[in-house]
Amino acid sequence: MINIAIDGPAGAGKSTIAKAIAKKLGYIYLDTGAMYRATAYFAIKNDVDVKDEKAVSLLLEQLDMDIKYNEIGEQHIFVCGENVTSHLREHYMSKAASDISALPIVRYKMVDLQREFAKTHNVVLDGRDIGTFVLPNANFKFYMTATSHERAHRRYIELEQKGEKMDFEILKADIEQRDYNDSHREVAPLKQADDAIYVDTTDMSIEKVIEFIDNRVKEKSMKETTTQGNDEQNNSLIEISKESSKAVSINEAEKKKPNKPRKPLTFRFYRFMRILIAPWLRMLFPTKIVNKENFDKIEGGVIICNHYSVPDTLIPSIKLFKRELHVMAKAEAFASPIGNKFLRSIGAIPVHRGEPDLAAVREVMAVLRANKKFMIFPEGTRNRQGTEEMAKFKQGAARFAIKSKKPILPMMYYRNHKLFRRNYLYIGEPIYLDEFYNAKVPDDYKKATELIQSKMNEVRVLLDAHVDSLTIKK
Ligand code: DC
Repeated sequence: MINIAIDGPAGAGKSTIAKAIAKKLGYIYLDTGAMYRATAYFAIKNDVDVKDEKAVSLLLEQLDMDIKYNEIGEQHIFVCGENVTSHLREHYMSKAASDISALPIVRYKMVDLQREFAKTHNVVLDGRDIGTFVLPNANFKFYMTATSHERAHRRYIELEQKGEKMDFEILKADIEQRDYNDSHREVAPLKQADDAIYVDTTDMSIEKVIEFIDNRVKEKSMKETTTQGNDEQNNSLIEISKESSKAVSINEAEKKKPNKPRKPLTFRFYRFMRILIAPWLRMLFPTKIVNKENFDKIEGGVIICNHYSVPDTLIPSIKLFKRELHVMAKAEAFASPIGNKFLRSIGAIPVHRGEPDLAAVREVMAVLRANKKFMIFPEGTRNRQGTEEMAKFKQGAARFAIKSKKPILPMMYYRNHKLFRRNYLYIGEPIYLDEFYNAKVPDDYKKATELIQSKMNEVRVLLDAHVDSLTIKK
């Protein structure tokens, strides 16, 4: 599928241009701003404050959003069956959309829909974070802007044509306020992607901008076709195949998504590797497991472990996961075909850190629902401080445990810096998070994460005391 991302601040002309380009290429146009506007509309209609994260997150559970296109390719948004499209361009909706779009929980829901849609359609998307966050691998990326004066002027004319009179200075101040909001929010703020083409439309007519973008698309397609030969995807770019834009629905894209967990692994390769590697590890890093009975106390659950050296990705796995390994690893490690094949074959699940990676979440949840043990490093990355001090935990472990209603098992690995010396893997008591099973808002996950971190600290103290006592005895 071909995806064209057009990002930029409010009033830069993105939607006009995106629509025209989509029409020219026969693609679908997805107005992502309208999705945030529709969410804000739904909140306002239900008397929910668009800045109240807790209330919005409760409301989101009832938000059933569907996007449809009519015969001439116009987008219509349906919220719980109601076509809300005509309400979305009201002036007060702009600020409300900007506010609600800053809530991470809202973004995750919208971004998931947008990605699924882009996977199944040739699409031109306009927004704030498409090239940087929603589709970092989009085929074409543009960052379109204009001075705030020019953007306010365009808006002024547009309203005037509709018979509405607005004070120019107020319009300009609103636009600047929105620019600030959109580019300073925590998750996926408005910014130009490094590989996006910058287009300043201040002094350009609509036709000029369309021509400019159209030319860049053609140029890039040409270049790729000549350098990469007869690749199917590039041919489709040159031919600019006409995709029907008739009445497609975003929910249909959702239905098509491959949300099944990957093909069940037999783990034969893992067992084979384990037999091969275990004796070496045993010799180089002899490790004593303390409280193995705690590991056996739980069937399925989220195992958390500190991670400060390469062996501690291997030792806890190989020592404890005898038949199957389910562990999360950073996606970068899967970048090469060999790395990918190897890690996938032993059972590692790739995660794109720093973004909502729904494919990874689905895989982990499938493991937990099957009542298996899954291991994650809660600090999110290697922490070279060792057992001394752990970095602030990410919320992933708590979220998985709460959503699957499974316990957390904390483990702490202590590695002697010299080879052939004894190391320890201390297993703590399982942590049950029942009190958070109804968690709805990020604050609940934050509290659960703090609880896990404090329990892990207790394990750390116990481990240190254990190691000290043995060292003193010697
Ligand atoms: O493009 P627009 O004015 O219709 O967008 C309304 C608001 O939605 C905008 O102020 C910021 C937000 N938005 C976003 O955060 N991410 C997008 N991809 C699109 C819009």
